[in-house]
Amino acid sequence: MSSKIQSEILKSAGFDAARFRADFPALHQQVHGHPLVYLDNAATTQKPLSVIEATDKYYREDNANIHRGLHLLSERATKDYEATRVKAQAFLNAASHQEIILTKGTTDGINLVAQTFGRKNVGAGDEIILSALEHHSNIVPWQMLAEEKGASIKVSPIDDSGEFLLEEYKKLFSPKTKLVAITQVSNALGTITPIEEIIKIAHEHEVPVLVDGAQAAPHITVDVQKLDCDFYVFSAHKVYGPTGVGVLYGKLKHLTAMPPYQGGGDMISTVTFEKTTYQKPPYKFEAGTPNIAGVIAFSAALDYVTAIGLNAIAAHEHELLVYATQKLSQVPGLRLIGTAKKKAGVLSFTLGDIHPNDIGTVLDREGVAIRAGHHCAQPVMERFQIPATARASFGLYNTKEEIDVLDKAVRHVLEVFG
Ligand SMILES: Cc1ncc(COP(=O)(O)O)c(C=O)c1O
Repeated sequence: MSSKIQSEILKSAGFDAARFRADFPALHQQVHGHPLVYLDNAATTQKPLSVIEATDKYYREDNANIHRGLHLLSERATKDYEATRVKAQAFLNAASHQEIILTKGTTDGINLVAQTFGRKNVGAGDEIILSALEHHSNIVPWQMLAEEKGASIKVSPIDDSGEFLLEEYKKLFSPKTKLVAITQVSNALGTITPIEEIIKIAHEHEVPVLVDGAQAAPHITVDVQKLDCDFYVFSAHKVYGPTGVGVLYGKLKHLTAMPPYQGGGDMISTVTFEKTTYQKPPYKFEAGTPNIAGVIAFSAALDYVTAIGLNAIAAHEHELLVYATQKLSQVPGLRLIGTAKKKAGVLSFTLGDIHPNDIGTVLDREGVAIRAGHHCAQPVMERFQIPATARASFGLYNTKEEIDVLDKAVRHVLEVFG
């Protein structure tokens, strides 16, 4: 069935999460004697059968290296691999497939930009603007660059609800600002940042912007041309695709000017011991044999979410968020961390003085999978003066009944530690 037809059917039928659940084999299991309630989607999403089957098919039928062999298997693998690039281009509405670099994930994409664009354009005394919401992946690569170059990091603050403060952000620019790198959705709090304004303001200062879309791409329709961002990164495994695969979008003018990232096979045009010439983007940035099976299976994930439609997914997850917020707010001693007006389906909380790890352990015994910890966002925890939170995060297959189970399990934590 074509994506368009499937999407039309879904629109007329309303959003039926229960129906989608049938597509995800891992959801149908018992955990400690209870049906699994998987609410750790911000960490990684489960995979639909189509993704699992695409991986299987590649290894069974098409296993070959890409861009090299003249034989049929290699042709097929190359065709399918490149088809993912075109699908990712459409998913982000990028102007050209040349602007899509297939990476290992968000972390890999950010490191690539830091080590190429960053090393070329950031010098001693220069400044990079981040926000207080960032995941470690969007902090540490810039710190490493800043240390190497003698540059510095400026941090745009958030308020007590986890809201990005645009007025404070504006004050951070100086003639030394060389890059802004900010998330579109916070993984720890769920805050949706005003990314359009963030980009517009940076561009008024002629400063390029990298958007960390790891938590946005699974929930929000992204149009990189409309956003006018310079770089956009996300991971396949959070969009119902395989681990170890991701996308880096970059404006062609930047990718053309940037030096390569890693050297090796596939990224070169000619090699002699005297001099090597490089391929054009995106291949210049894709050295070595990649995760071919993963990239090919990622196509199936993009088809899957596109068929349902990100707007429909976002509306469903918003409904779950509102329902869960209202329910959990009534649990005695529960404190929601992150109450921004615009949020994606992430609910971070603490419960009295019970350690979030203990919350996670008790919930696991009830079959409820959440994440507990600092969520690779220690500066966010520091901002709220807590070591960690418990975090439930929603995906397209979650239901209100599962939130009822979560609510009951959280109340059980109180009984256990009461
Ligand atoms: C906002 C954000 N950025 C970056 C990352 C890193 O993604 P990956 O580990 O897939 O590279 C994550 C992962 O949780 C994230 O939530």
